[in-house]
Amino acid sequence: MKKNVLISGGSGFIGKYLTHLLVEKGFSVAVLSRSKRENTENISYYQWDVNKQYIDENSVINADYIVHLAGEGIADKPWTNKRKKVIVESREKSIELIYEALKKNDKKPEAFISASGIGIYGAVNGPLICNENTPSAKDFLGTTCQKWEAAADKIASLDIRTVKIRTGLVLGKDEGFLKKLVPIFKLKLGSALGSGKQYMPWIHIDDLCSIYFEAITNSKLVGPFNAAVFDNTTNTSFSKTLAKTYGYTLWLPNVPAFLLKLVLGEMSKIILTGRRVSSAQIEKLGFEFRFKNLKDALKDCLLE
Ligand SMILES: NC(=O)c1ccc[n+]([C@@H]2O[C@H](COP(=O)([O-])OP(=O)(O)OC[C@H]3O[C@@H](n4cnc5c(N)ncnc54)[C@H](OP(=O)(O)O)[C@@H]3O)[C@@H](O)[C@H]2O)c1
Repeated sequence: MKKNVLISGGSGFIGKYLTHLLVEKGFSVAVLSRSKRENTENISYYQWDVNKQYIDENSVINADYIVHLAGEGIADKPWTNKRKKVIVESREKSIELIYEALKKNDKKPEAFISASGIGIYGAVNGPLICNENTPSAKDFLGTTCQKWEAAADKIASLDIRTVKIRTGLVLGKDEGFLKKLVPIFKLKLGSALGSGKQYMPWIHIDDLCSIYFEAITNSKLVGPFNAAVFDNTTNTSFSKTLAKTYGYTLWLPNVPAFLLKLVLGEMSKIILTGRRVSSAQIEKLGFEFRFKNLKDALKDCLLE
């Protein structure tokens, strides 16, 4: 019988690609969503409502593995106090809901794999290379990731292997960050942001899905893992490579940091600050990135 992977937030960017990979590899997939959706041959849908603390418990009962991707978009709306609460609670409270459902059942999944972010290390613009033992930052993203991971650790307390995927900027066709940038760069109006010196650890969506697949199938993976290519990509080098993909050289001056702060407020930190991140821990376990070169990754995502 096919093993079943339950993916919370499986209808989003990463979830759709991961579902495709899992189905291809012979798994059945179940998606936890806030919306009612029609089942397909390989995907069954279950509903939940984190605010009302409701979950269809059949989703959890049938799961051999759980992947937790659900959460409000971090860069979707300005970070007012209300929005910050929504960002944190959509991650923390949703895991708690899964935890309570798991506690009631004797059958436990073989692993719980949660998304997390490299934002946990904060803005370390400098030579420091963050690894999985680097302390988490005290800023909003750092504390959000810390609470997110602490909620996942509660699942580990049920004796379930738990993995936390500290994800860099994910590159995928018509999705995520690139979806916002591409129309500007296609018009040759792209430019670097702020000083442009901020590091931008990135990962191709195919490699990220392979890391999730590894986390599902390889019981050696436990705890946090950075999921980003270890290179020297900064905002300037990223912008230059993206412009080159469309056949031109960056010509506009950098967008001034003060302007981005004015428009985006505190959320501008996402694009104005960065950190270098080591990928050694996942590579030590034998994982090999298919896309280690930004130019190739962008070409794969952008060119028809
Ligand atoms: N994409 C990146 O570059 C990146 C980088 C680092 C970390 N991550 C993290 O990886 C996870 C998946 O990312 P993604 O890019 O696939 O995100 P996404 O496309 O926004 O998908 C997330 C899904 O979460 C569900 N969701 C949203 N708000 C929710 C809420 N209040 N309660 C319950 N579910 C909610 C939605 O599914 P339904 O509408 O079906 O409920 C949505 O499709 C996120 O937690 C994200 O923060 C992503």
